[in-house]
Amino acid sequence: MSFTPQNILVTGGAGFIGSCFLRHMLQHHQAIQVINLDLLTYAGNLENLQGVDQDERYHFVQGDINNQALVEGLLEQHHIDTVVHFAAESHVDRSISGPDAFVKTNVLGTFHLLEAARQVWKKRYNLDSKKCRFHHISTDEVFGTLSKTDPAFCETTPYAPNSPYSASKAGSDHLARAYFHTYGLPVTMSNCSNNYGPYQHPEKLIPTVIRTALAGKSIPVYGDGSNIRDWLYVFDHCDAIDQIVHHGRLGESYNVGGDCETNNLQLVKHICTLLDEMVPKSGSYAKQISFVTDRPGHDWRYAINHDKLTRELGWSPEQTLEKGLRETIRFYQGV
Ligand SMILES: NC(=O)c1ccc[n+]([C@@H]2O[C@H](COP(=O)([O-])OP(=O)(O)OC[C@H]3O[C@@H](n4cnc5c(N)ncnc54)[C@H](O)[C@@H]3O)[C@@H](O)[C@H]2O)c1
Repeated sequence: MSFTPQNILVTGGAGFIGSCFLRHMLQHHQAIQVINLDLLTYAGNLENLQGVDQDERYHFVQGDINNQALVEGLLEQHHIDTVVHFAAESHVDRSISGPDAFVKTNVLGTFHLLEAARQVWKKRYNLDSKKCRFHHISTDEVFGTLSKTDPAFCETTPYAPNSPYSASKAGSDHLARAYFHTYGLPVTMSNCSNNYGPYQHPEKLIPTVIRTALAGKSIPVYGDGSNIRDWLYVFDHCDAIDQIVHHGRLGESYNVGGDCETNNLQLVKHICTLLDEMVPKSGSYAKQISFVTDRPGHDWRYAINHDKLTRELGWSPEQTLEKGLRETIRFYQGV
């Protein structure tokens, strides 16, 4: 059953993926209004929304998803029929040094948001799924780690989170699922692999590699660089969310992957090779690679099977890693 969002509350829209999603939605859908609710933590950056902020269909509200009264007010005032929930503490290293913020935002914040939607949409729409929709964004990290020969994660892979970050995301996923089953809140969910592309916070792997390489500094690689990730271009991810919001089945989760499995060292070398060509200097950037102490409990491999999304909604990733990395490098050169 298809759904047409009109007034969308995007949480965490000043962050990496949320800001790209706002761009994507405003570009591809004329008849929408979007409200961006973001606390502007260290990870939120309104500069990510340059251009978007001039669009009269876009409104920004600085606030916390834990402030349920604020969220209920926004749902009422803007006649919100769709929530797309990105807001989170998202950096694994920070979750190891300070897990409390992760529980507060990812678990409690998601709870308050679900509860606000339930309260307001019960009164306004009697939770009719033709009239309202809540999409929750999660990560492949909730599934734990894989060996080289394990099959890729699918939607029925049991949850086995290993970091405070992934544990807090798993908690939020369970709440979203429970709100569908218990209260009939029209929920869909997605679990995606590592995103890359423009507007990502400089502390994450790919921006760090580009930034340190161009600054002539050491390029840090955890452990021996053998950890494997799947890389998803951020605008492919935004397109997948758009499809799920419009056509996804209620109560279902969908895996979103980039079909780009590579280990960290290969990825860093790939970026160095591209930099050698795009921003040449004497000697290769790869000479700056330096191995640093591994992250505690570092999951060895993630891989994602997105067959369900492809089969049901016809989505598959379009960007190649090569082209996506080139665009990402161009973006960070200009920053
Ligand atoms: N980046 C990835 O590779 C990746 C992969 C899988 C899943 N995800 C998920 O996608 C979502 C977005 O990730 P991202 O990389 O864009 O994150 P990000 O860290 O770049 O952005 C998070 C945004 O949420 C805002 N925020 C934080 N706490 C808030 C609160 N209490 N109330 C309101 N706003 C708050 C921040 O200010 C920031 O703008 C997250 O839920 C994350 O778990 C990300």
